[in-house]
Amino acid sequence: KRVKYQEQIAEKGGFPHYMLKEIYDIPSSLISSFSSLMEKYLSLAAMIVYGAKNVYVIGNGTSLHAGFISSYYFSEVGINVNVVSAAEFPYYALQNVSTGSVIIAISQSGETSDVIRSVKMAKLRGAVIVGITNSVGSRLALESNIYLPITAGPELAVPATKTFTSTLVVLRTLSIYTGLNSGKKDRKDINEFKENLEELSKNLLSRLPQMERQAEEVISKVEKESLYITSSGINFPVALEGALKFKEAALTHAEGIQLGELLHGPIALTNKGYPIVIVKPSEAQADDLYNKVIRSVLDRGSPVITVSPEGDIKSLETSRDLSPISNVIPLQLMAYKLGVKRNLPIDTPPGLVKAVVS
Ligand code: AGP
Repeated sequence: KRVKYQEQIAEKGGFPHYMLKEIYDIPSSLISSFSSLMEKYLSLAAMIVYGAKNVYVIGNGTSLHAGFISSYYFSEVGINVNVVSAAEFPYYALQNVSTGSVIIAISQSGETSDVIRSVKMAKLRGAVIVGITNSVGSRLALESNIYLPITAGPELAVPATKTFTSTLVVLRTLSIYTGLNSGKKDRKDINEFKENLEELSKNLLSRLPQMERQAEEVISKVEKESLYITSSGINFPVALEGALKFKEAALTHAEGIQLGELLHGPIALTNKGYPIVIVKPSEAQADDLYNKVIRSVLDRGSPVITVSPEGDIKSLETSRDLSPISNVIPLQLMAYKLGVKRNLPIDTPPGLVKAVVS
């Protein structure tokens, strides 16, 4: 029995769970994802996105959350994208899809039925499909007109971690190339992004153990029935993603909510010691709101856990576009640590599968 256990640990690179191993893979996968993108496909995809009549970004779960972040990337280069759950896409967005439309379809497995179904429907109406997937031979890769690989390496834990961060690398790179067409970016922005990414990867490598320890230290504060995770701006979708990790890895209800929206009712719950995890927004305009929410929640007697370079869990100082990568890791680690404390089957949460294929 002992030998079998040792073998299992070896498969996971010495880590007790795939989820933790895959979080530790993030620094290297960020670099492999960027360097595997081919200039000619990026340029072609960017030209098509720039010339599109309308652009939809679709995906489910973690891939949808990456899609939400892409709307901040694309708006920076003058492109408005509509981010829609692939499960909801046929009910309204599809109506406005026709020749000249572009669908950016994200699926790490490339097999998720909602995505494939929506892609097929959009193709019938004349749309061009830009597929982003971690699986080269997948149905999504085959259905796409242009395919951009995620190249995060195999992800075996059901709770997605490194594919989220690598999908962001692909989306950000595509948005910068789109900006070359709109004139909002030039080639030095590509080099600057590459340098920032390399620096983040290097710093993460050395700081992950500290983040892991800090995540463990705050667990007693979030060990409740339910919690809020909040942020604003480009990090708001990170709150949604963190909440999804708590549901999968720790089987805890968590709600991702916009910082400003908390004040419109939901903050009422924080009277009862209801924990709130706040990811400090990267946009300076949100500073006042950030401080105000922290004060209000503490005054109400509820625990606050901050995630920022100065926070309770220290994420890394980086550029705004990369801040979601730096900030999501502490949330992934917290969800993981709570799952471990509760002795849960973290890599295979009950009733869940890696790809929802019907
Ligand atoms: C993520 O942790 C979940 N396991 C799930 O939400 C997942 O992201 C979703 O099912 C989409 O999967 P895909 O990226 O393979 O299409």
